[in-house]
Amino acid sequence: MRLSYFNAIGLLGRRFGHPLAPFHPSIPWRSFSENASEILKNEHRVIERVLEVLQRIAERVESGGSLDVESARQAIAFFRGFADRCHHAKEEEHFFPAMESKGFPRHGGPTGVMLYEHERGRECVAAMDEALGAVAGGEVAAAERFVRHAHSYIDLLREHIMKEDSCLFAMADQAFTAEDQKRLVAAFARAEAEKNEPGAHEAFLRSAEELAARYGVPAPAAAYGSHVHCCGH
Ligand SMILES: [Fe+2]
Ligand SMILES: [Fe+2]
Repeated sequence: MRLSYFNAIGLLGRRFGHPLAPFHPSIPWRSFSENASEILKNEHRVIERVLEVLQRIAERVESGGSLDVESARQAIAFFRGFADRCHHAKEEEHFFPAMESKGFPRHGGPTGVMLYEHERGRECVAAMDEALGAVAGGEVAAAERFVRHAHSYIDLLREHIMKEDSCLFAMADQAFTAEDQKRLVAAFARAEAEKNEPGAHEAFLRSAEELAARYGVPAPAAAYGSHVHCCGH
């Protein structure tokens, strides 16, 4: 039986804390948890680092430099593969439906808003990709279009992550039982194994780390959460 990423984290994490933490700066120590929202929050920290890289790529163009096409392509691959296929899929296929089963409405409710924002994010990534292709094809002016869509995506996703971390997850954690959490963590592991080739998750973490190092984006502070309050209160 292949030991999946999550199985490995689960088995070792229970005993030693997060087994990758000492080796991987993007994974804060004590980040392992049996709580589904903690897994999603930890993925947010990695996504935020690549958003910061994207911002620096855009700012370089705004200050007269050329568009770093190679890094921009790598960031787009990360947003599609990790932020969307790994992370948003866990939310859309498991976490949000679990919330809805507890009575949170989709239509006119919090999960409906989150789903709408995921869609908008996909549109921004597609638009960045189109602009990047145009730049690579010699349309120099498309760099400006790339920058505009990059800023839309950065603003959208930062705000989206803030809403989930500070409000949505707190509501869900109050509604979920320990059994619900266990079921979700297991569903996340299955989703990860089904949607990705073996080792893809780790490859995306390495890619994020590589981009962050290239653009001097520091690792997130080890602890988060204690300063976060629901809905800004
Ligand atoms: Fe989300
Ligand atoms: Fe999220």
